[in-house]
Amino acid sequence: MGSVAVMELQEYSRNRANIVKEIVKLERKMFPKHESLARSFDEELKKKNSGLLYVEVEGEIVGYAMYSWPSSLSASITKLAVKESCRRQGHGEALLKMAISKCRTRNLQRIMLHVDPLRTPALSLYKKLGFKVDNLIESYYSADRNAYRMYLEFDCA
Ligand SMILES: CC(C)(COP(=O)(O)OP(=O)(O)OC[C@H]1O[C@@H](n2cnc3c(N)ncnc32)[C@H](O)[C@@H]1OP(=O)(O)O)[C@@H](O)C(=O)NCCC(=O)NCCS
Repeated sequence: MGSVAVMELQEYSRNRANIVKEIVKLERKMFPKHESLARSFDEELKKKNSGLLYVEVEGEIVGYAMYSWPSSLSASITKLAVKESCRRQGHGEALLKMAISKCRTRNLQRIMLHVDPLRTPALSLYKKLGFKVDNLIESYYSADRNAYRMYLEFDCA
């Protein structure tokens, strides 16, 4: 497997509008309405302390991750997804590693995230990169969909 080039969306990226449009399209396709950020993507991006990472293959966006750091202590991974036909090629892991590394350089103490326990690939990826399950939050996404809250604690050393 070759290395994956992960990019970060910049405020003044020339093709910013197109990149966001493509990601919103993927978001609509991959997530049910109650879990989708499609309608609020622009607002999420306008938040001061947030970042959007993406992977492009042959001019097409195939995966993205969104993260934010609302406080100086803790960050959240608010989104991670790879287009179905491009999975199991290392894109998800590369995106998550980059998001972790961006948070690490901001001297935050931990990263939190929520994931449906039934999303086995995502759960396994988070565990692979060191996230631990904190607790189960019932009816987090909808009446019949729970979430694990997970965290990754950084060493203070
Ligand atoms: C989770 C997701 C982003 C993984 O992306 P990906 O590019 O396929 O993942 P990678 O190829 O980088 O795989 C990295 C690790 O993820 C885990 N993983 C990925 N696919 C998996 C699968 N089908 N079953 C079990 N583990 C899986 C493994 O730990 C894998 O490591 P390994 O290759 O050493 O076994 C992708 O499956 C996805 O978009 N799922 C739908 C959206 C989603 O659930 N997002 C998370 C919401 S919180």
